Amino acid sequence: MRIIFYTGKGGVGKTTISAATGIKLAALGYKTIVISLDVAHSLRDSFDNEQKLIAQSNQKQIPIAENLWIQEINVQEAIVEYWDEVYNYLRSLLNRSGLDTLVAEEIAVFPGMEEICALLYINQYVRENAYDVIILDCAPTGESLRFVSIPTTLEWYMNRIFKLERNLAKIAGPVIETVSSVPIPKDAYFKNIQNLFDKLEGIDKILTDPKTTTVRLVTNPEKIVIKETQRAFMYFCLYGLCIDAVIINRIFPEGIDVEFFEVWKKTQQHYIEEADNYFSDVPVWKVNLFDDQIIGEQGLRKLGDILYADIDPAERFADDSPYKFKKINDVYQLTMQLPFLTKEEVDLTKQGDELIVTIGGFKRHIAIPRSLVGRKVSGAKLTGHQLVITFK
Ligand SMILES: Nc1ncnc2c1ncn2[C@@H]1O[C@H](COP(=O)(O)OP(=O)(O)OP(=O)(O)O)[C@@H](O)[C@H]1O
Ligand SMILES: [Mg+2]
Repeated sequence: MRIIFYTGKGGVGKTTISAATGIKLAALGYKTIVISLDVAHSLRDSFDNEQKLIAQSNQKQIPIAENLWIQEINVQEAIVEYWDEVYNYLRSLLNRSGLDTLVAEEIAVFPGMEEICALLYINQYVRENAYDVIILDCAPTGESLRFVSIPTTLEWYMNRIFKLERNLAKIAGPVIETVSSVPIPKDAYFKNIQNLFDKLEGIDKILTDPKTTTVRLVTNPEKIVIKETQRAFMYFCLYGLCIDAVIINRIFPEGIDVEFFEVWKKTQQHYIEEADNYFSDVPVWKVNLFDDQIIGEQGLRKLGDILYADIDPAERFADDSPYKFKKINDVYQLTMQLPFLTKEEVDLTKQGDELIVTIGGFKRHIAIPRSLVGRKVSGAKLTGHQLVITFK
């Protein structure tokens, strides 16, 4: 199975390209679903087929063509589907009995719920091997990063805090309760959390396995958009996702000789060259601005055929995991692909068996192999697109 994220700055063409990719994949015979992760969904609009869509609107996975389905994740619906897990989880977290009357609409407002629901669906499809390819039409960059950070954060919580809390409650609970009035959570509390996590188990490995999951960054040939693409590249690497292509969309085609566009064309040319240089580790695909908005199956098919003229979009165009441990003589090295990083931006700390890497507002806990736990970080160096950390 393949999972491909299409993400980038607001309005660059993520939804259009995701939809076109879905059509192309389906035509190539892959059983494909395009899932919109953006709460402000526009995937249906992109297909512009009201009658068909309304007729199928009672289905979560709407069939669009042979081999092709789309899904706009509706948090409230998802909560109903995974009601027991989500509801019990929240009730446990908030630890209040007064929540018995909670309904799906109220639960939907809790932060992180959308992401958790989307992850529940994705993990279910992976477990059931329901599709050959899952295309994820993402929300703009910031939210997408939050999305991909959730599985590793959950995993971290489960491994560190959860087990500890649960054991502590089991062992010390009865003692503490006799001497203090602080309520110690009952085991049912932990069971509820465990139930939800069981449904999510494995999703972090799937998303960080470049054999399954890759990210494609959609961008436009303009300074601010390219800059954001660079940062997104780095942050997705930080979370261990493999980026396997950059797509420059909305390039003015040859033959627009109107004077008004002269400066625009030079600007675009400049940033296309910059992008080719910046993103030289991965293929950079280019798409012209069409002579009209791209909506409906016909337009999307045309876009898919141009973008993937002689390539199969399900292929992987890079398969390096952003993190690698290796041993050279007696020195262990962790190499992290972190392009566009400057020394000033990054902060490293080692705590027990994990390394904490902080870049800007983003933080990643990286579990280090057992053999390195007793070793000190002896150096960190930025070379080219890599941060190399050595342990002695
Ligand atoms: N190459 C192109 N030529 C012409 N129109 C395009 C092209 N790419 C995208 N568009 C049009 O641009 C508009 C915005 O595209 P789209 O909705 O795919 O962007 P998005 O990145 O998903 O936006 P959002 O961040 O809001 O989700 C749409 O009307 C789409 O038809
Ligand atoms: Mg969109």
